[in-house]
This record gives sequence, structure tokens and C-alpha cells, in this order.
Amino acid sequence: MTASPTVAFTGPTRVLSGVQPTGALHLGNYLGALVKFTRLQHEMETFIFVADLHAITQWQDPKLLKSQVREITAAYLASGLDPAIATIFPQSAVPAHAELAWIFNCVARLGWLDRMTQFKDKAGKHKERESVGLYTYPVLQAADILIYKATHVPVGEDQRQHLELTRDIAAKFNHDFEVPGYFPLPEAVVEGPGARIMSLRDGSAKMSKSDPSDYSRINLTDDADAIAQKIRKARTDAEPLPETLAELKDRPEALNLIGIYAALEGRTSAEVLSEFSGQGFGAFKPKLVDLAVARLGPVGDAMRKFMADPAEIDRILAAGAERARAVAAPTLAEVKGIVGYWAS
Ligand code: TRP
Repeated sequence: MTASPTVAFTGPTRVLSGVQPTGALHLGNYLGALVKFTRLQHEMETFIFVADLHAITQWQDPKLLKSQVREITAAYLASGLDPAIATIFPQSAVPAHAELAWIFNCVARLGWLDRMTQFKDKAGKHKERESVGLYTYPVLQAADILIYKATHVPVGEDQRQHLELTRDIAAKFNHDFEVPGYFPLPEAVVEGPGARIMSLRDGSAKMSKSDPSDYSRINLTDDADAIAQKIRKARTDAEPLPETLAELKDRPEALNLIGIYAALEGRTSAEVLSEFSGQGFGAFKPKLVDLAVARLGPVGDAMRKFMADPAEIDRILAAGAERARAVAAPTLAEVKGIVGYWAS
């Protein structure tokens, strides 16, 4: 095949992202994802879904899945995502994701997927025991994004590689089927405060819903007492806070707490450090507790309020799914035509 000149995508900018319904959301998800979604909804057309197709790549109790989807939705709404502006929906309610994923399974190369570090991390030593779905997970992710021709994808640092794969799939599809510029080559939106919130127990590991210790993270549903206790117990050192960030290079736990403070207050870590330099954690931690409780308390309260009305959540998800299906349908019909399938 001869290389065709790269032709740029000329469609509108669009935001798409999603979170898996596989456990409680924490401060890292809030600052790194939800706050960003909420900001972006005012800048571009925004699609935010709950990734329940991805969730079952590892076992999920069917009795819990639906309530977990509602819980993520409640967190979206509590963070300020507005269903009148953004399209909020469960992934499984839009079959076009799975249909496009099949076609992309035939575009992506085994060699590309073999390089995916998230699969290696999740599968550990026994990859032969994992589901095939876990292996092709990033291909479905590419379909999630490209079925809406999304151009901007707010995600954590760990998803950069999946976005590169998405661009490779888009470029190969455009090239192989001779439709230059058909799919955009979407970008990860990673930067911003809260891009790297680390565990409260280990400043070198990301704050994660799968960490066995609940003290490693602040959950969005934690009440003021739990937030205070977790911050009080957060690992630190005995040194006072220095004047510059460079001096925190070998103090990851201290750097993390400063970063959390900064992200919660919408300031830079350097500014926060200059305010607290010379002080110890005995002085800093109570200030962080006050700030975290003030910022997260209302989010937790709003989440509980939404969770108390599952019928309203279901109504929002159904309306979002209808809108998403309407946007996805023409793309899927076009793609089927491009591939040479019967139109349905
Ligand atoms: N893999 C993402 C994560 O674990 C979730 C996800 C699925 C996603 N599909 C997506 C994120 C599409 C952005 C766009 O965080």
C-alpha cells in the first residue's frame, strides 16, 4: 500500500470520557477526571459515559453492577456535570460501541495490543487466565471515542498509551479504507491540577480503588470524620516543609499532600509550599483536613441525595443514551458502508 498524505479531520471538537463502575470513586478520580469533565462541558460538546462494557472484562457481580453504574452517575452529577449540557449514559445502552469495536478488532494489530502495559499490569503473571475482553479492552476504548468522532479525551496519565492506540487505529482505518481524515486522531487531556494524586500510604503509588487499604484513599462518599482520620494517618516524615518543590524530590508523601492541597484550592504546589514552608505536618495536616472537608463534604452530600432517587438517575441515563444513540447511529452506518457491509 502506498502512504496517502495525511488529511486532517475537519469535524467539530468533541469531548468524550468514561469511568468504570468497578468500585468507589476517590479523590484522585474527582480531581483528575470529574472536575475536568465538568469544566470541559462548557467548552465543547461533551459525552460522558459509565463504562459497564469494560467493567465485565474482570468479574462483576451482576447484582451490584446496576447500582454501581448509578453510583458513578451520582458522582458525575454531584461534581457538577449537567445532563442539560453533557450527554451522560451507560455504555451498554449504546450497541454501536460494541459493533464498531468488532471492526476495530480487525484493524488493530496483535503486536500493538501486546505492548499495552495496563493489560500486563492487570493480568500479572497469569495472562492465559484473563478474559479475551481484557486483552481487547483498549480496542473497545478506541470505539467508545471514535464512534462520536471525539477529539479530546480527559483521562489519567495511565491512559496515554490507550489514546496512542486509538490514534493508530483511526489512522490505519482512514488509510486502509481510503477515507482520509474520516476519523479524527484524538488527544488525551491529561494535564491540570490533580493529574497525579498518590496513595496516602505510599507516595510512589497512584491513589487507586483497587488498593486493599481504605486508608490509602479518600472516597467521595467518606464523611468528615473519615476524611479527617485518613489525612491524620497519612504517611509523612518528621521534617518541616521546605521552601521549594525541588527540595521535596525525595519526599513523595509530602509532595503528594502539598499537591492535594493545591488541587483542592486551585493553586499551584509552589504557592502552597511557600505558604507553609518552615512548618511541620502537625500544623499542615489540620489545614488540609479543613480544606478537604469543605471541598468534598458537599460533593458527598450531593452524591447521597442523588443516590436516594435512583428513578431520577435512571431517567437521566435513559435520556442520555437516547441522545448518544442518535449521534452514534450515522457514524456506524457510514462505517458499515465504508467497510462494505449491508446497511441496517
Ligand atoms: N479505560 C478507562 C479507565 O480505566 C475508562 C474508559 C473506557 C475510557 N473507555 C474510555 C476513558 C474512553 C476515556 C475514553 O480510566
